[in-house]
Amino acid sequence: MTQFPDAKSQSSDAKSQSADANPTPTSGNTPSAIEQVQAHWNRVFSEKPYEYGQAPNAFLASFASRFPDEGRAVALADGYGRNGVFLAECGLATLSLDISPVGVETTKKLAEERGVSIDARVQDVSKWQPEGPVYDVVALIYAHFSSTPERDYCLRRQIHQAAASALKPGGLLILEAFRPDQLGKPSGGPKSPHYLYSLAELEEDFKGLEILEGSEVDIELEEGERHRGLASVVRLVATKP
Ligand SMILES: C[S@@+](CC[C@H](N)C(=O)[O-])C[C@H]1O[C@@H](n2cnc3c(N)ncnc32)[C@H](O)[C@@H]1O
Repeated sequence: MTQFPDAKSQSSDAKSQSADANPTPTSGNTPSAIEQVQAHWNRVFSEKPYEYGQAPNAFLASFASRFPDEGRAVALADGYGRNGVFLAECGLATLSLDISPVGVETTKKLAEERGVSIDARVQDVSKWQPEGPVYDVVALIYAHFSSTPERDYCLRRQIHQAAASALKPGGLLILEAFRPDQLGKPSGGPKSPHYLYSLAELEEDFKGLEILEGSEVDIELEEGERHRGLASVVRLVATKP
């Protein structure tokens, strides 16, 4: 399993990477891949706790009127919880999962400040086993996982299939992520094509679901300093029949 893009496609200067670029892999007697991912995001969220601002992702928020008044939500790779806390504010019993303990602590603090409760846990989502199709809303917002076609392995697909299995019939799975056209744009995102998603890949990942909306669009991002400016994203909304 790899959580990283290949070294050749990345700058070795960590400062030249955007915050949501993944760290360059190392070899030898060094921390495991997932420990490197964790250390990277701990550093990002220690330096700037609200890296993408405190407001929820605009695409996710635009579906609030379609959420049930009561129910359950899960936000995968939720960072410091801007989206998970928003789902909790919508009245949903929310599980927020992220690999970064610093992010998870910030999620708890943000929820407390907003006066909502949230179940925020440190979890490698590639190991997450949902208890069944119990979630009314599944959020995957800028949750980028690798595909390694040369090894015929796709972590992205594995995690997306777990996310789909967690969705309740009639529920909504909402995803926004950067797509390959984002490479070279300064408005954020991974710097390796193996971490960027096309709509065709997502349609394949979620083929057991009914796709309600799928698009590749260029938008003006306004999420803190790092997600700012013209950005090439892919969006998908799906339900379970
Ligand atoms: C670009 S940030 C997005 C955070 C959040 N979804 C948001 O939109 O504010 C990517 C997040 O993915 C998390 N992440 C990366 N790999 C992970 C894994 N295997 N399991 C859980 N979280 C992971 C990082 O810790 C980081 O918080």
